[in-house]
Amino acid sequence: MNALTSHNAAMRKLLLSPDKEQFRRLVDLDNIDLVLRELLTIEEMREAGSFFTGQKLATKAVALLPVITSRSVVLDPTCGAGNLLIEASRALGVESTLSTTLLAWGKVLWGFDLHAHFIEATKLRIVVEAMNRGVEQDCDLDEAFELLPNILVKDALSVEKLELEKISHVLMNPPFTIWPSPKENYWKEGKVNAAGIVFDHYLRLLPEDCSISAILPDVLRSGSRYDEFRSFTSQSMSATVEVWGRFNRKTDVDVFLLSGKIKTAVNLIKWHNAEQNSVCISDYFDVRTGPLVAYRDPEDGPEYPYFYPKICPQWGVIREAVEMRRFTGKVLTPPFVVIKRTSSPSDRNRASATLINLREPVAIENHMIVVKPKDGKLKTCKKLMQVLQTKKTNNFLNERIRLRHLTVGVIKDIPFVEEE
Ligand SMILES: C[S@@+](CC[C@H](N)C(=O)[O-])C[C@H]1O[C@@H](n2cnc3c(N)ncnc32)[C@H](O)[C@@H]1O
Repeated sequence: MNALTSHNAAMRKLLLSPDKEQFRRLVDLDNIDLVLRELLTIEEMREAGSFFTGQKLATKAVALLPVITSRSVVLDPTCGAGNLLIEASRALGVESTLSTTLLAWGKVLWGFDLHAHFIEATKLRIVVEAMNRGVEQDCDLDEAFELLPNILVKDALSVEKLELEKISHVLMNPPFTIWPSPKENYWKEGKVNAAGIVFDHYLRLLPEDCSISAILPDVLRSGSRYDEFRSFTSQSMSATVEVWGRFNRKTDVDVFLLSGKIKTAVNLIKWHNAEQNSVCISDYFDVRTGPLVAYRDPEDGPEYPYFYPKICPQWGVIREAVEMRRFTGKVLTPPFVVIKRTSSPSDRNRASATLINLREPVAIENHMIVVKPKDGKLKTCKKLMQVLQTKKTNNFLNERIRLRHLTVGVIKDIPFVEEE
């Protein structure tokens, strides 16, 4: 990960003959993400989880913390090129010279990253930030770097409790890659989102009352696999949740902000604001994913009408077979509604549905969610089709789940009133 070598070298050169406009650009929090995109392929960025927080989101993340002063100790445990630390430094004052300013900032600003070039970029950019604020350059770069001793190459997961005793504020946007679960005393086995692992590590180590503001992927807020992550978090901190939406224009991942204080108690965290109706789809329907897995299930056994997303028109009613397929697994008897699992907040209708009304059992593929009325009536299915098209349902789903796929749990909770 030497991606920033040339960029860092250019920054070092500029420090010898400062140029106002270039200096401003170096600490433009939206620009560094674009610089990285020029130097790395998207696969390399994904592997390192190196997507840097833009200005608007960084401002929001810092604003959610208590005021940062010269007595605060602010840590970003996965600091990348330092965007969140630069934003934190903007809450601090400056002295007349670079050295006295960095002496003060160096006590407040702590950052770790696995990659030396990111740490170098963070330090260089903090120096540039101080100079942009009008301090007199009275020391060379080596001396300046020594005044930032707590910004260092370190594995965020190797940190121990004692090292974090002084931390008063944590800002983080950890990587969203997939890592193996640490397993022991853990909320999930198998593979888990790295952001959950890093966040969890700090929940376990940070001192009571330490404030946190974290930018996390929506899957941790709304994914059914992360129920236990949410309950572990609720036992470790009091917090509020704010849905943010897409990370940036180029990164199609929705994020939320989780902010609050470490409190080992049973805290109530409201993970979503979607109105929780007393009557919902699960009161009237059985909900499940389609049983047929196309790549896995052999084409053996009896032949059935077979449905998958591509051949199910939105809001259409299907009364006869379009395609047939042999299948030995569970078949389902209509009438029922199928909803496509793939769904994005940018779609006009989050729950894209089709009414299946054949007089024989059918096979449904697992990229569809099957919603079958408990009373077995077509009329109830028709009512459901209307409910799914409403703005109310869209708003509910956009609040509850920003992921690019719907889950059975969320469909069950959609407000449903039989007679309106
Ligand atoms: C999503 S970026 C965020 C950077 C920065 N916090 C920001 O918001 O701009 C995540 C960073 O975590 C770093 N990282 C990944 N695994 C890490 C680990 N185990 N310890 C420390 N840093 C790590 C990556 O190198 C990357 O720079």
